Amino acid sequence: MRKPFIIANWKMNKSLGEAQRFVRAIKGCLPNYQEAEIGIAPQAFAIPSLVSIAGNSNLEIIAQNAAAKVAGAYTGEISMGDIHDIGVKYVIIGHLERRRLFHETNQIINEKVSTALSKGITPIICVDESNTELKSLLNGLTYQQLKKVVISCEPTWAVGKGHQANNEMAEKMCQRIRQAITNDFGRAIAQQIRILYGGSVNPSNIADIMNHQDIDGVLIGRASLDEGQFIQMVNYQKRMPEVVTNFTVKRAVVQ
Ligand code: PGA
Repeated sequence: MRKPFIIANWKMNKSLGEAQRFVRAIKGCLPNYQEAEIGIAPQAFAIPSLVSIAGNSNLEIIAQNAAAKVAGAYTGEISMGDIHDIGVKYVIIGHLERRRLFHETNQIINEKVSTALSKGITPIICVDESNTELKSLLNGLTYQQLKKVVISCEPTWAVGKGHQANNEMAEKMCQRIRQAITNDFGRAIAQQIRILYGGSVNPSNIADIMNHQDIDGVLIGRASLDEGQFIQMVNYQKRMPEVVTNFTVKRAVVQ
C-alpha cells in the first residue's frame, strides 16, 4: 500500500518568522500518519528551526536541494550528511527550476540521488512529462535503494504557470513513469515506488488528481504558501471548510 504524500515546495519564499508562524499554525490541523505523509520544503536556513517546531507531529521538513559531493571545498553548497543529522529525511532533487536556472544535468542529478541515499536521505526525484531522463537518473542504484526513491512528475507546461492541471493527463503521465520503471527494473519495484504529480495543484483540483491509481501524492508550489489553502489540501480526503475559515486567507506571495 503506497501512502499518499503531500509536499509543499516553498521555493525562495517566506522569512524565518513567516515560516515558523506557518508551521506552528498548521501543525495541529494535519491528517494522521496512517492517512498521509505531509512535508514542507522551506528555504535551507529555516530547516533546523522548523524541524524543532514540527517535533513529533506528522510533518517532515524537507530540503529543496543539497550537494552532489559529500563534503569539502564547495562554497555555498549544503551537505546531505549534515542535513540528515539535523533530522531531514527527504530532499527534492532535479526540480525543473534547478535544471533551467542552475544548469543541473542528468549526471549531476544522478550523483545527488546516490549521495542522498548513501547518507540515509530519500530523494524526491523530479522528472518532466517525457520522463526520458528517468533511467539515467536512477542509474547505479541497488534494488534496496531503488525501492526507497520517490519520483515527482513535473510537466514543464504546468509548473508555476497557472495552467490548471488536467487530472486525466496527470494520471497518464504517472502511469507512463510506473510502466517505464516496470520495464527497466521490474514490477515489484514499480509497485512500491511512490509517484507524485506537481504543477498548479490547488485546493480545487487536488482531490480529483489524488483520486487516480498511479498518483501517490503531489508537490505543490504556489498554493502551499497560504496556510488556509495548505490545510485544505492536506485534508483533501475530509474536506474541512470550517478549519480553513479560522485562517485569514492571504494572497500567496509568488516569487
Ligand atoms: P506550482 O509549482 O504548484 O506553483 O505550479 C509546482 C512545483 O514547483 O513543483
